[in-house]
Amino acid sequence: MNTVQFIPKSLEEKVEKATYTWQTPSNIALVKYWGKSNPQIPKNASISFTLNNCNTITTIDFEKKSNTNKVSFELFFEGKKKDDFKPKIAEFFKRIVKYCPYILDYDMVINSENSFPHSSGIASSASGMSAIAMCLLSLEKELIPNLTEEYINKKASFLARLGSGSASRSIEGPLVVWGEHPDIIGSSNLFGIKFPYKIHSIFENYCDTILLVDKGEKQVSSTVGHNLMHNHPYAEQRFKQANENLSKLSNILQNGDIKEFVNLVESEALTLHAMMLTSNPYFILMKPNTLEVINKIWEYRAQNNSSVCFTLDAGANVHVLYPASEKTKIELFIKNSLIDYCQKNQYICDNVGFGAKLL
Ligand code: DP6
Repeated sequence: MNTVQFIPKSLEEKVEKATYTWQTPSNIALVKYWGKSNPQIPKNASISFTLNNCNTITTIDFEKKSNTNKVSFELFFEGKKKDDFKPKIAEFFKRIVKYCPYILDYDMVINSENSFPHSSGIASSASGMSAIAMCLLSLEKELIPNLTEEYINKKASFLARLGSGSASRSIEGPLVVWGEHPDIIGSSNLFGIKFPYKIHSIFENYCDTILLVDKGEKQVSSTVGHNLMHNHPYAEQRFKQANENLSKLSNILQNGDIKEFVNLVESEALTLHAMMLTSNPYFILMKPNTLEVINKIWEYRAQNNSSVCFTLDAGANVHVLYPASEKTKIELFIKNSLIDYCQKNQYICDNVGFGAKLL
């Protein structure tokens, strides 16, 4: 694997002080990543819609320091010092320092905030890690001015992956593939790439309404869940299925077969949770209201000849997916029939987005 391409050869410019602010999105996987080997290499390829409204805004202030043998940073979340998030970020910097040796030259102050409510059960690691990665690449661009945009996106995704696998899919949009796959030209285990083929118009501006069914802390983290795939009786079959599903989905995204899309996406979501149910130790992240919502969606779809469907990530919240042409009707359906299943009736309206933005 060619990781040498991400080690800077020489830093041409001197920068004493710099500040960058990036807004990077969350994403929702259609074919799921669940199972990995070291260092953050996925067991199967995955693909996600990049979201638009669910994002993290991160500012990093860099100030040159004299002692260069240790990474030094402070972390603020929503204006408050957040020492409990520090170990995760410290581990991230440890993993990436080989590729960004310049971080040793600076004191860094990281200020981060999410657009979605705190502890909403929406994973912030994807948008959080990708935002830090983009700030680092902005500094790298100043130190090495001839970096191309293509290289910057690739390296940002490569770094973000080392923080959290799904974060590799939060740099670009509207659809990103991460993981080597024979049908996806240019795909890699090291970084995410934009889905390289023309997408059917039905998938443009696709909507995702996230129903906040349970906002509590998850009992089992994604990292623990991934590890449980190591001795999992169905692991090999699952990795094979996911790669086959990505082949099928690649065709569906190009030909616009919405019925097949619905079938594949819902099956992926339930298979992800089936892996949790059949791990040892086993666990359940869905809540009773997750199942209530799923049944309501199935009932509505059957009665209204609709293309609405759902997906789940590693939690109880339900992502309701539908084409923009059904927006008015589905928003009404959600208001009338689904919000009672959400904690404090909360939900977030989102749609497909185009990736990281420099602010
Ligand atoms: C169910 O990317 O959160 O959302 O690499 O350990 O940080 P780490 O895991 P993470 O796992 C995401 C799992 C998922 C599926 C997906 O996004 O593909």
